[in-house]
Amino acid sequence: MNQHILVETRDRVARIEFNRPDKKNALSPGMYAAVAQALAAADADAGVRAVLIHGQAGCFTSGNDVRDFLELERAPGASPASGFLRAISSAQKPLVAAVGGPAIGVGTTMLLHCDLVYAAPGARLQLPFVPLGLLPEAASSLLLPRLAGYQRAAELLLLGQPFSAEQALAAGIVTAIVPEGELLERARQAALALAALPPASVRMTKALMKREAAGAVQERMTEELQLFGERLRSPEAKEALGAFLEKRKPDFSRFS
Ligand code: COA
Repeated sequence: MNQHILVETRDRVARIEFNRPDKKNALSPGMYAAVAQALAAADADAGVRAVLIHGQAGCFTSGNDVRDFLELERAPGASPASGFLRAISSAQKPLVAAVGGPAIGVGTTMLLHCDLVYAAPGARLQLPFVPLGLLPEAASSLLLPRLAGYQRAAELLLLGQPFSAEQALAAGIVTAIVPEGELLERARQAALALAALPPASVRMTKALMKREAAGAVQERMTEELQLFGERLRSPEAKEALGAFLEKRKPDFSRFS
């Protein structure tokens, strides 16, 4: 297990908490592996009927650790996120997310694989892949246009600017906006309600709703991961990621 991922099962709900607040819950390779393992364990455990994923009141997750992006660029190989993305996109049991604060990059794309998503009014979401010289992952290039419509998805994915919980609700990414003080409890109650239902009916209904897109999602994810690896080594990404770490504005004027 990993100190930055807390996992606990109570009342047939597995709770997965991102717990690296000093780095805004940025996800390291070890954290991805721990969440993937927790999701697989939840699917395998007949005593678990729903999964609750959350961070803290002021933060969901700031996405992939930007420093690790630079490591990956130096030592190319299988993406540490890929096992996590496979696990969350093929989870059989229902997933409930509580988004209390920033949900950046994979922090937002993972929500496309959750079944119920509750967000605090002040939560900020962002898909900054293009501004970082990268491209979307988690099959978001397929799922977001389907969910939100092309133009809305294009605004979120091409401009890559932060957007509000209200915009996320309008785009279909979020199920409901809940006052900050009630967020985790509301998400927990939803998970408990799922856990009290006939489990096979819940699993089969989720599988039926996901079936049409399932093959295309895995295919797109594979393609995105390969292109993502290539983009990580691009001069555009080097400029963007370097600028983030040096806390300066990136300059893309020299690229064609
Ligand atoms: N990877 C690595 N470190 C990160 C991080 C990330 N994804 N997100 C935040 N951090 C670190 C910051 O570098 C900072 O570290 P420091 O205290 O050593 O300087 C610390 O976490 C706090 O972040 P800060 O930016 O000061 O907090 P904030 O409240 O002003 O902003 C965010 C929060 C999440 C909006 C902002 O940190 C951010 O945009 N992060 C980058 C997100 C990103 O691009 N993720 C990749 C997606 S593909």
